Amino acid sequence: MAKHRIGIVGGDGIGPDVVAEGLKVMEAAGVEIDRVDYDLGGARYLRDGTVLPDEVLEEWRGLDAIYLGAVGAPGVPPGVIERGLLLRMRFELDLYVNIRPFRAPGHDFVVVRENTEGTYAGEGGFLRKGTPHEIATQGSVNTRMGAERAIRYAFDLAAGRDEHVTLVHKTNVLTFSGDLWQRAFDDVAAEYDGFETAYNHVDAACIYFVESPQRYDVIVTDNLFGDILTDLGGAVSGGVGLAASANLNPARTGPSMFEPVHGSAPDIAGQNKANPIAAVLSGAMMLDFLGESEAAARIEAACHANAETIGSTTEIGDLLAAAVAD
Ligand code: IPM
Ligand code: MN
Repeated sequence: MAKHRIGIVGGDGIGPDVVAEGLKVMEAAGVEIDRVDYDLGGARYLRDGTVLPDEVLEEWRGLDAIYLGAVGAPGVPPGVIERGLLLRMRFELDLYVNIRPFRAPGHDFVVVRENTEGTYAGEGGFLRKGTPHEIATQGSVNTRMGAERAIRYAFDLAAGRDEHVTLVHKTNVLTFSGDLWQRAFDDVAAEYDGFETAYNHVDAACIYFVESPQRYDVIVTDNLFGDILTDLGGAVSGGVGLAASANLNPARTGPSMFEPVHGSAPDIAGQNKANPIAAVLSGAMMLDFLGESEAAARIEAACHANAETIGSTTEIGDLLAAAVAD
């Protein structure tokens, strides 16, 4: 395999540390990485006001992938880094599905989160801000195209699994967006012969995640429900320290981005305490997407074999690197 040209955004807090372990493990597995480092995130913003320069975004379009640790730092106003860096990356690079796999005991399932629309789109604003009569609206943007491509991705994914897809939404209350999603889901489902489908309201899905996750194979849901549900998914399947994600541009018109589900955890930053497995598994998802399926499978197996290992960030990284090297 040729060297992969990967943009590295370690980011803030524990981000750079877990990314370093991920790179260590990928290299130990024999994968050649040509890394291009980007100093971006909350700390950079606090230093000089930079969030995501246009030139950097343009440069990224020529990369094979982006590997990200975590962004967000105390002292940065809410939304600056989230919207200006992470969401801008997802939207501009059209990373339209966010794939988040989970392993509960004896079972695994995947959440396909729509990644470019919904309440994340940024529709809305203030009227009469700062007055007693102020109004804030935050709309949910749902295009037929956006819902349909996420749903189609979920069905294609399920084709290589148990051929079972569950739509999670809140169609009983969100009667406009829910209706669009349900019709798109039914129309796509009709193209996949023999597949089983299910529907859960998002509140009920929270109960099922805890009580009976075995009912799931592939779940497809909107951006905000997917955000919330996948933190719960992490919590019920070994902790968010194990939860990996892939922000994919399945059309491959640009690089995809791979990052752990967890945040920058400033409270434990710099203490060599963070579990790097979520970042290492995200690296495995990246390798798989880049065609390095053999190395990806080896890394994944090592992570799962060590999912309960207690150790420091670097100890776990070293252990995984040794496991994939032979
Ligand atoms: C995630 C994160 C992000 C999100 C934040 C940091 C903007 O929570 O990747 O799940 O809400 O999507
Ligand atoms: Mn989240």
